[in-house]
Amino acid sequence: MAKTQEPCKIQTIDGVGMSREKIIELTRSHVEIMKSGELPLADDVFRIPVTNYFDPDRWEAEMDLIFKRLPLVLGFSVEIPKAGDYKAMEVAGVPLILVRGRDGVVRGFVNMCSHRGAQLVDVGNRNTRSFSCPYHAWTYNLTGDLVAILDDQDFGEVDTSCMGLTPLNVEERVGIVWGSVTPGVELHLDEFLAGYDDLLDNHGLADCVLVGQQTIEGPNWKVAYDGYLDFYHLPILHKDTFGPEYNNKSLFDHWGPHQRVQGPDHRIMDLMDIPEEEWSQTRLVSGVWTIFPHISVASFEAGGHIFMISQLFPGSDPDTSVTHQNFLATFEPDDEQKLQIEKQMEFLRYVVAEEDYYTGNRIQKTVKTGAKSHFVFGRNEGGPQRFHRWTDALLAADNDQDLLELYKSGVG
Ligand code: FES
Ligand SMILES: [Fe+2]
Repeated sequence: MAKTQEPCKIQTIDGVGMSREKIIELTRSHVEIMKSGELPLADDVFRIPVTNYFDPDRWEAEMDLIFKRLPLVLGFSVEIPKAGDYKAMEVAGVPLILVRGRDGVVRGFVNMCSHRGAQLVDVGNRNTRSFSCPYHAWTYNLTGDLVAILDDQDFGEVDTSCMGLTPLNVEERVGIVWGSVTPGVELHLDEFLAGYDDLLDNHGLADCVLVGQQTIEGPNWKVAYDGYLDFYHLPILHKDTFGPEYNNKSLFDHWGPHQRVQGPDHRIMDLMDIPEEEWSQTRLVSGVWTIFPHISVASFEAGGHIFMISQLFPGSDPDTSVTHQNFLATFEPDDEQKLQIEKQMEFLRYVVAEEDYYTGNRIQKTVKTGAKSHFVFGRNEGGPQRFHRWTDALLAADNDQDLLELYKSGVG
């Protein structure tokens, strides 16, 4: 059997073990909370109008001011590890390409030919030496430059330097490729992440192996995302699957709009008896790590430690969403481990599709009945409360300066 590795990348540019120090400190604070027996709660209950989940104007604003403006997690380093590897996808209606150049840098482009707009490649992950348009064969290199025009004498004087692919701002950090889907929009990634990348560094995603991907359709993106931030439902909705392993309480931490949710249970209590230097990376990265506005990273055992990274994207209308589940293993699996991973993937497809999104799709119907005007989030649901506060605040911050101010001030 292949050897299982710990997700253990603890070197950072700040110095040896900076990331681990930060997550140890965080975990130490959780141990203290458990010792005190008092879970932090939100200050108050929080209500939101049910129209937030289906109103078309609101949804358009969310597309423009969140999904087409903020850095999104477009992909993972392990999807495009080599020069020429590319990932083509469509996000918020924008067809785009992420490609790793011969210099090792990941770049993003709108998947659109400069001649008459054909999409250069189909959705999927592949490798290429260049991008040749399927319509009239204009050709671009891996850095997006236009390098060949068929029958170029018929196009007069062409300044090819302004005819390349349209770049998108993207940045690769801690094994994740963030990017904006709107040309010219700055990422402001440091401000946006608020130090969260140091914590995510502990997952060691850049050193993982991509072992599977599957896609699930679901309800409005916020109905779906509420579920990722909610441990209150675990022993109830998931009573027939993994629910009995959890209580219904949650421990939330946040960095800017990003949140980590953990169950306050024996997984933390057990650490009290173990010296900090022996706390395993596996244990330290447990729980659910969300990346606003659409990602959840969760840990599982399947022949070794694996991560399921759910990428949730709004669908083509307010009532739908599409979730790509990406499975990254901390080890190179042998045949037996591959079978275990397949089984775990099927289990997680079932849990999300048949339990979470089954429920979410039915909520998507109830919100439109006119029966209730508001939903309520209890003091134990501080994470979902914070998510909705951030969403509202981002819609109110409709210019760059307000956005940067919001990143700095947070939502309290
Ligand atoms: S649209 Fe691409 S070459 Fe014509
Ligand atoms: Fe769930």
